[in-house]
Order: sequence, then C-alpha cells, then structure tokens
Amino acid sequence: MTEPAPKSPAFKPLVFSGVQPTGNLHLGNYLGAITRFVALQDTHECIYCVVDLHAITVWQEPAELRKAIREVTAAFIACGIDPKKHIVFNQSQVSGHAELAWVFNCVARMGWLNRMTQFKEKAGKDRENVSVGLFTYPDLMAADILVYRATHVPVGEDQKQHVELARDIAQKFNNDFGASIRDGGFGDVYFPLPEPLIQGPATRVMSLRDGSKKMSKSDASDYSRINLTDDADAIAQKIRKAKTDPEPLPSEEKGLDPRPEADNLVGIFAALNNTTKAEVLREFGGSQFSTFKAALVDLAVAKLSPIAGEMKRLTQDPAHIDAILADGSDRARVLADATMRGVRDIVGFVQKK
Ligand code: TYM
Repeated sequence: MTEPAPKSPAFKPLVFSGVQPTGNLHLGNYLGAITRFVALQDTHECIYCVVDLHAITVWQEPAELRKAIREVTAAFIACGIDPKKHIVFNQSQVSGHAELAWVFNCVARMGWLNRMTQFKEKAGKDRENVSVGLFTYPDLMAADILVYRATHVPVGEDQKQHVELARDIAQKFNNDFGASIRDGGFGDVYFPLPEPLIQGPATRVMSLRDGSKKMSKSDASDYSRINLTDDADAIAQKIRKAKTDPEPLPSEEKGLDPRPEADNLVGIFAALNNTTKAEVLREFGGSQFSTFKAALVDLAVAKLSPIAGEMKRLTQDPAHIDAILADGSDRARVLADATMRGVRDIVGFVQKK
C-alpha cells in the first residue's frame, strides 16, 4: 500500500498517542505504551490523548465513560506524565479530530479498512450489527495523529497496522491535493508520514493464563491481566497463578522461543526493571519458576503499587482532573485549528478569513 514518500519538508518532531477509556488499564497498556510516553517526555514535545470518541464505537454507559476518562487521565499523571510541560486532554473536547476524520473517510479506501485485523477481530461474525464507527475507527485514529502533524507515535505492537494506515492516508492526501497544497503556499506536502515507535521488551504483553493471547481489557478472566488499580495481594496472586511450563528458565534468549509463557514473564520482568530479556536471563537462567516468580512479584508490587495509590488519590478529586483536561484541550485546540484552516483551504471549502 505504501508508495515512496514525496519530498517532505522538515516537520518538527512531535509525539502523539492515545489510550481508550474503556475498562481497566492493564500491564500491557502500561509497559507497551504508557512507560514509553513517560520516557519520550525528556526528548520530545508530546501530546497524550484520552480517546473518548473511539470508546463509543462500542456501547459505553455514559456515567462509566465519564469515570473511565478521568481514570485514564489519573493513570497518565500517576505514571509520570507532566500535563504542564506536555499536553494531556480528551479527544471530544477538540472538534478538529472529528472534522479531519470526516475528510479522511473520503480519502481512505474501503479496501484499506477492510484489511484492518483489529476490525475483523472486534466485529467477529457479527459484521452487520457493529457500529459504522467501529469500521471507520482507523480514519479517526489517523486524524488524531495528523491534526497535530505529529511525526512519532508510541504504541504497542497491536496498533502498528493502524499507524501504517495513517501513513497511507497522509500520503494519499498529499498526492490527491498536491496541486492545491502547492498553490496555497503550503509547501510540497501538508502532512508528515508518522512513524510508529514500537520499542522495548514488552511491545506485546500476553495473557497470564495463555501465552498465545494478548493481555486485554476484554478477557473474561481477571487472572489473565494485572490491572493498574490492583493491590499488592492481587498482583502477587495473579503472578503466582500465571501459567508456566515445568522447565527451569533458559540462560539465553533463544531458549525462550518455543516457550510463550516463559517469554512473556521474562519480557515483563525486563520491562519493569528497565533492562533487557538477555540481562534477566543472565541473572535467572537455570532458576525454577518459583524463584523467578517471587522476584517478579516483588518487582511488580514495588513498581505498580505506588501508581495504584496515586491513581486513587487523584480520582478522588474529579474537578482537578477535569481542569487538567480543559487546559490540555485549550492548548491542543489552538494547534488543531491551525491545521484545519489549512485543510479546509486545500480541500476547497470556503471559510471566514
Ligand atoms: P488501546 O486503548 O487499546 O491501548 C492503549 C495502548 O496500549 C497498547 N497495548 C498493549 N501493548 C502491549 N501489550 C498489550 N497486551 C497491549 N494492549 C494494549 C496499545 O498498543 C496502545 O498503544 N487505537 C488505540 C488508541 C488510539 C491511538 C490514537 C493510539 C486512538 N488514537 C492515535 C495512537 C495514536 C487503542 O485502541 O489503544
């Protein structure tokens, strides 16, 4: 799908990512995405979004949705995202996301969206009955990124295809409207081709009950995941009950290849400890799981318990969280409005000068 990129101006590096306010945040969201968001703050300007418009592609109870939006915001802050230096907000407060998504609905092709594996998984056999929004979800995601002309998108492995689609949409917009972009004095291309940043030892954290399934909010078994709000006892129990195999841990990474559950736990340890799987195996190669799991419980509790405590404290003051989201939205809107003025001109809409 991706054609060679046209010559592009130097876009200012800008990080954008989003998390859905649906159900509990879990260790996969934390290690695959939020810890990366925190790390990028030192080197980049960052925009982190609670994607409430995406959430309603499947039914959400309004009161629960409000609570979940505040909880994800609290998680961002409890994990170390600084909403003063960077931008933290919820998507529905900046109308440019929805407006650009409409334009992208008219740029993206049915065939592109038909190939999205996440839609196929979520819709399953019930395609006729899912919302239209679930199908066009990736166009809104492209709009989230491109309404800021963001260049880098930290995500877990499962979002790679969606970020690649955002690149294809950016490229097709740049090509389709090339003459209008140039005539309007916008340079050769209007949108950058955003790059997915999928990094670290835990880009795809698997279920604790089944090493072949992704850890997910929607798994029926709570023992499949560690929630960011779990207390120390729950974390310990879930790790102790996590599925393993009877062999001791290998000393080298290639020994993990045929052992998905062992691979997953070693990856989790490495990510929590800010190190690599090879380093973890240097320490625990030859150990039984009983020894390794005890160390993993200590590490996970030490890292995650303070986050749960801070989330609890923050969510007790919803007005404070709402003020953070309002401030972030005001700052995001200024950027999004500037992009949208250009988009309207390029597409050929008439607007107030
Ligand atoms: P969401 O809300 O499902 O997940 C948020 C982030 O967590 C990552 N993640 C995982 N990483 C590793 N292992 C796992 N088991 C795991 N489960 C989830 C996801 O990859 C994601 O980075 N469509 C997005 C939200 C979104 C977005 C965007 C992201 C909307 N607009 C623009 C980036 C840019 C989603 O549903 O993520």
